[in-house]
Amino acid sequence: MSAEIKNLENLQNTTYGLEKLFDDAEDFLPLLGTDYVELYVGNAKQSAHFYKTAFGFQSEAFAGLETGVTDRVSFVLKQDKIRLVLTTPLDEGGPINEHINKHGDGVKVIALWVEDATKAFEETTKRGAKPFMQPTKEEDKDGFVIRSGIYTYGETVHIFVERKNYNGVFLPGYRKWESHYNPTDVGLRYIDHMVGNVDWGEMKTWCEFYAKVMGFAQIVSFTDDDISTDYTALMSKVMSNGNGRIKFPINEPAEGKKKSQIEEYIDFYKGAGVQHIAVATNDIIKTVSAMRDRGVEFLYVPDNYYDDLLERVGKIDEDVEVLKKHGVLIDRDEEGYLLQLFTKPVVDRPTMFFEVIQRKGAQSFGVGNFKALFEAIEREQENRGTL
Ligand code: FE2
Repeated sequence: MSAEIKNLENLQNTTYGLEKLFDDAEDFLPLLGTDYVELYVGNAKQSAHFYKTAFGFQSEAFAGLETGVTDRVSFVLKQDKIRLVLTTPLDEGGPINEHINKHGDGVKVIALWVEDATKAFEETTKRGAKPFMQPTKEEDKDGFVIRSGIYTYGETVHIFVERKNYNGVFLPGYRKWESHYNPTDVGLRYIDHMVGNVDWGEMKTWCEFYAKVMGFAQIVSFTDDDISTDYTALMSKVMSNGNGRIKFPINEPAEGKKKSQIEEYIDFYKGAGVQHIAVATNDIIKTVSAMRDRGVEFLYVPDNYYDDLLERVGKIDEDVEVLKKHGVLIDRDEEGYLLQLFTKPVVDRPTMFFEVIQRKGAQSFGVGNFKALFEAIEREQENRGTL
């Protein structure tokens, strides 16, 4: 049986089991969506310019010296439902500087939008989560927000945001960021999923964390038999919350002939962290070509990937030549197909990158593309001398 057929069966089994799983589970942590993603970066002002110019994000809010915040500056960017917060400290020392020194630029906070941040904190810490932030009420003239937080893998945290009593631009302490430079968006709509890389032997721990502490269910699982090239191997499980709005695949390196990209990430990030943020679009060709025109570098997909494409994925709406021109990958599951493409790392270290994804029915994550993708990543690793 080919790996792809095996994967599909795997997927069917697990996906069909999903409804039952959630029926049985009590949803003690209802999540309304991703609220924001905060990156600790070396220079927030310049990163903000990059994400506006290259990714089409819009200026949204700002906190810093001008708003009475003396120890840090944060720029908030928005594109449809996606909010990115870029934070840099204004002084030496402290946890943000330590985070940047150790990990380089990277995701610190995956903030989740909830009805009740106090209950979210109580329910998760009661089940064993390590507290990051006690429930805290923040207010200004636009109302109040309650936030709380817990640790997840590495030094990454989840902050629960309760904003039903707030009408301001982002959070108390922020003001509207007016800029004369407003490049158009590129059609990015919402965060589809966010992937965590964890260290050797840690995948089980973190999948159990999402299951037990946060009430998530495992919807997909791949072993190193499913996902391996001549050099690279990895294992992956996808955890989802009850309403399916939050999906966190977790990767762990597996033994291969050479160093896997997951291991390379762990080496450079100095531990577990967010590997990629997948953002959804309704028109991947338009989005990807706009991003490329604006300087975003995508992984190179070999021309021969397209040779047997239609045999693999069946009938699709798109013209294969157009997909080939833009290097877009396609994969099919039992519910439909998806188109996806991955950027090269967007930070200096070979760590965090983005995925652009367009779903046409498919609810999976492109396992059929993993092999082609890893071979592409290995070419990049070879260039870096880290394979
Ligand atoms: Fe992904």
